[in-house]
Amino acid sequence: MANRQDSHHHAHIVGWGMAVPDHVLTNGELTALVDTSDEWIRQRTGIAERHIAAEGETTSNLSLRAAQAALEVADLDPSHLDLIIVATVTPDHIFPATACLVQDALGAKKAAAFDLSAGCSGFVYSLSLAADLLAADRYRNALVIGAETLSRITDWTDRSTCVLFGDGAGAVVLQASYASGGILSSVLGADGSGGDLLILPAGGSAHPATAETVSNRQHFIQMQGQQVFRFATRIIAEASRQVLDQAGLKVEDVSLFVPHQANDRIIQAAARALGVSEDRVFSNLEHYGNTSAASIPIALCEAIEQGKVKRDDLIVCAGFGAGLTWAATAIRWSLPLPVPAPSRRMTVWRWLHYRWARYRSWWRRLWRKIDAHLFQILYDQDGRRKRRGRDV
Ligand code: UT7
Repeated sequence: MANRQDSHHHAHIVGWGMAVPDHVLTNGELTALVDTSDEWIRQRTGIAERHIAAEGETTSNLSLRAAQAALEVADLDPSHLDLIIVATVTPDHIFPATACLVQDALGAKKAAAFDLSAGCSGFVYSLSLAADLLAADRYRNALVIGAETLSRITDWTDRSTCVLFGDGAGAVVLQASYASGGILSSVLGADGSGGDLLILPAGGSAHPATAETVSNRQHFIQMQGQQVFRFATRIIAEASRQVLDQAGLKVEDVSLFVPHQANDRIIQAAARALGVSEDRVFSNLEHYGNTSAASIPIALCEAIEQGKVKRDDLIVCAGFGAGLTWAATAIRWSLPLPVPAPSRRMTVWRWLHYRWARYRSWWRRLWRKIDAHLFQILYDQDGRRKRRGRDV
């Protein structure tokens, strides 16, 4: 039971939040861009619309909004975060990590922060990693985000991919506690021999950006859809079974199955192979398309909002994607729902904290410049202190 105490730590989800851009692109609107139809997209994928980031809207913006919503539910002071992981294949920059931008904007001054790239499995990979660190007593509070602006790497002239993807972010706050339950087990896997099936060919060290890579459209997603489809239907069921085995549980114990939202046909085939009835499978693909690492946390948030999660429920999340990678996790939901509204005092505190974080960031940038000037005045090129005409 969720409130039973153990002698070691478990990682529990205590906060969740999501953010999607306001702009919605419907299937109908896509027909103006490529040779497709609403009927084909709905029948072959189950997607009706997706959210697309506006100019200036980035993976870090969306991550921040989702993170702030998750911290609100957890009623947690951002400065108590120990770890921030952003799972993404569309970071703001190759470096610095998007997680560091989020850490700065949140004013999470004691948090370690890094990005994790495992394609659409990235969120479950990150959740598993964070949960293990919490269970090992390394950290107490972790923020795990899955966030993407796939529209930025989508080839809007390629009908076989552009109808599939969308933008968004989902986040959870994980907290260590002696109460049993929470993240029970995880399975992570990879098969790099399938790396070329879903790839962003250029922009890395293999093919740095050149005029040629741009004109060859190598900075956009390239996918061999049917092969990924076949891999997905097999691996979701396999990984989910493994994760249940590891936790000593059976498919019949699963209350809610939250798979990666890539294609309704994949979700249904995987559910059939696993033997989970339709009413226990969550899908919101229709309204978001495939948001890669963001799809599972967004689905989890909506499942909670729609009252599909109750205390002591067993939830299985399973993802697959570029790499090729796959990941599944079994979660015993330990929080009574709905959660009470956050305390007004803490909400005001967080509001002030985020404003202070902005000021802190500005001040630290300014101080770095002042420091550089002072260094030039006080030290020579070798870093030795200048002393009235002689070095020490
Ligand atoms: O997050 C992980 C990443 N990716 C995935 O999970 C994707 C997995 N794969 C899929 O979901 C499916 O393979 C797709 C949705 C990408 C494609 O569906 P499909 O049923 O495998 O279609 P297909 O590639 O076999 O293409 C069937 C036909 C082709 O025409 P012909 O050659 O039969 O005349 C395509 O050219 O459909 C055509 N087609 C389209 N027609 C209208 C492909 N895309 C479109 C389109 N609109 N957007």
